[in-house]
Amino acid sequence: MNLLDGKLVSAKIKEDIKKDAADFTAQAGRKPHLVAILVGNDGGSETYVASKMRNCELVGFESTNIRYDVDVTEEQLIAKIQEINADASIDGLIVQLPLPKHIDPDKITEAIDYRKDVDGFHPINLGRMQRNLPCFIPATPYGIMLMLDYYKIETAGKHAVVVGRSNIVGSPMSILLARNANPGNCTVTLTHSRTKDLKTEVLRADIIVAAIGKKNFVTADMVKDDAVVIDVGINREDSIETKSGFKLYGDVDFDQVAPKASWITPVPGGVGLMTIVGLLKNTLEAAKGTIY
Ligand code: GUN
Repeated sequence: MNLLDGKLVSAKIKEDIKKDAADFTAQAGRKPHLVAILVGNDGGSETYVASKMRNCELVGFESTNIRYDVDVTEEQLIAKIQEINADASIDGLIVQLPLPKHIDPDKITEAIDYRKDVDGFHPINLGRMQRNLPCFIPATPYGIMLMLDYYKIETAGKHAVVVGRSNIVGSPMSILLARNANPGNCTVTLTHSRTKDLKTEVLRADIIVAAIGKKNFVTADMVKDDAVVIDVGINREDSIETKSGFKLYGDVDFDQVAPKASWITPVPGGVGLMTIVGLLKNTLEAAKGTIY
């Protein structure tokens, strides 16, 4: 078993981003600038946004966190998004999901100018990704592709099984793995809650991407020998053992599955760190204007 080490790969790529950001700042006279909107005070979202902001500072970006109470209206949020769309000093805008029930996430996503949509959630970016055109790629799938690329994992002709069809991870992941690109060129099966006999589907996989949001969901009896296992799960459970007061669990039962896998990502220290890299890369591209 070999570890796909998110800590190592993210640190290396962030060094490159930092150099590029310094070049941009020297030329443009301002830093790349990411704005994150956070609604309410969901514990997970608070942690993720804080980490995104901290990482922006680390690589020399400017970052702004705009917070709203949970009762903010859709109209208020859209008005703010339109203001940011029109602000030339801001390169990238993300609205942290999930949003409260009274706000339609599709409306919010489509209100963001696709040229600042560094989450890659806007239908224009999604469509362009499917067509293999320059676009912003959703951060988690982007980070996973960067990791596969870093370790030169052979993907062409391989059978990839993605578990979970979310807009944020599973769906875009299935598109990226199937694209005529490297990494890519996989035969992809996208499985979800209505899939019959999920175990048999996952057992056929050369590459498993577990993005279902259930602790230890993928067990050893679902994994073929020498499979590549990518664990997207960040399942938080309260714990008195850690300083933060919670513990993270992947969607893969790591202890059981690791001995069978050729490559596997740990949780924490795997995909989560790569997600940040995907977002930083998109923000830099947005600032440089190399995509749009
Ligand atoms: N919630 C969970 N993951 C993400 C992400 O990548 N972007 C945003 N905006 N919200 C999320």
